[in-house]
Amino acid sequence: MSREAGKSRFQLDLRRHLRSQNICDNLIHLICEIAEASKYVINAVRTGDLGVAGTSNLYGEEQLALDVLSDRILRKRLIHSGVVCNIASEEMDDIYQAQLPGPDLYSVAYDPLDGSSLVDVNLSIGTIVSIYKGCDLFQEGRKQVAALYLLYGPRVSMVYSVGNGVHEFNMNSLMEYTLSRENISMLPSGGIYSPGGLRKKYTPATEKFVSYLETKGSRLRYSGGFVPDMNQILLKGKGVFMYPALTDAPKGKLRLLYELNPMAFLIEHAGGAASNGKMPILDVKPECLDHREPVYIGCFEDVRKAVEFLSEENG
Ligand code: AHG
Ligand code: MN
Ligand code: MN
Repeated sequence: MSREAGKSRFQLDLRRHLRSQNICDNLIHLICEIAEASKYVINAVRTGDLGVAGTSNLYGEEQLALDVLSDRILRKRLIHSGVVCNIASEEMDDIYQAQLPGPDLYSVAYDPLDGSSLVDVNLSIGTIVSIYKGCDLFQEGRKQVAALYLLYGPRVSMVYSVGNGVHEFNMNSLMEYTLSRENISMLPSGGIYSPGGLRKKYTPATEKFVSYLETKGSRLRYSGGFVPDMNQILLKGKGVFMYPALTDAPKGKLRLLYELNPMAFLIEHAGGAASNGKMPILDVKPECLDHREPVYIGCFEDVRKAVEFLSEENG
């Protein structure tokens, strides 16, 4: 076999890739622990009961909804990692302190199962994770040291950034994450749009933005899952996702800590942008764990255009 052919069979795994990123060992360990936990989440999603929380199975044992189960799987792993102080999850009301503040510890905010309402119709879903150095989770998203998501689709993939490019890994037959795309970058503008929320509740500026996208020939791609919708935009390098302010929900639906900040970190590091219509998502100071913001996220020029329409409206 030629040397080149031998090389092409070599799969760079997640841990080796992380080691090349010039980051501290604790952060490498943390990201690898999350990747390990995801294997159990996948198993739960693939084989678990589709029961709702609070109901019982055949043996009278309480069944857990998959989002609650995924939350427990991830939390347990984070607690045992030994490198995490504070944990916030979409499934918990309060911050969980895994250990007292100390050097080289990290705090993690996550959405354990995003798109959980799509489980019963077998569409793609994911896990979204945001990581800060230290114990403060109420910082602007720009201060994240890492962000990642896991996509549970026909294949399982992971996309991460520690602020040095955005990289995709696919799970192989041995359930290892191996590098599939390095330094993903987005085009300035694109031909896909993913509009969340009821259109009849859009404000006139968002309506104008949608008409602009339709006029320029953008194709509608909306699955109802933030992770697969964003993964399509990021990996194709083109498009924009929005979950705008609605007439009856001025802050939209998506959560800053668990959904928007990690996704905005990844998109910005791939050359795209994310805005709430007034300012970059990554500059918004979180006010509470459940803080929501409207969002326009994707190609830089498309987001700039959205902000332009919205600034006319906001005066
Ligand atoms: P979650 O399942 O964690 O509550 O989040 C679902 C989110 C997101 O995945 C998606 O983009 C959005 O909700 C879809 O909302 P609509 O059904 O209102 O479009
Ligand atoms: Mn979610
Ligand atoms: Mn969720």
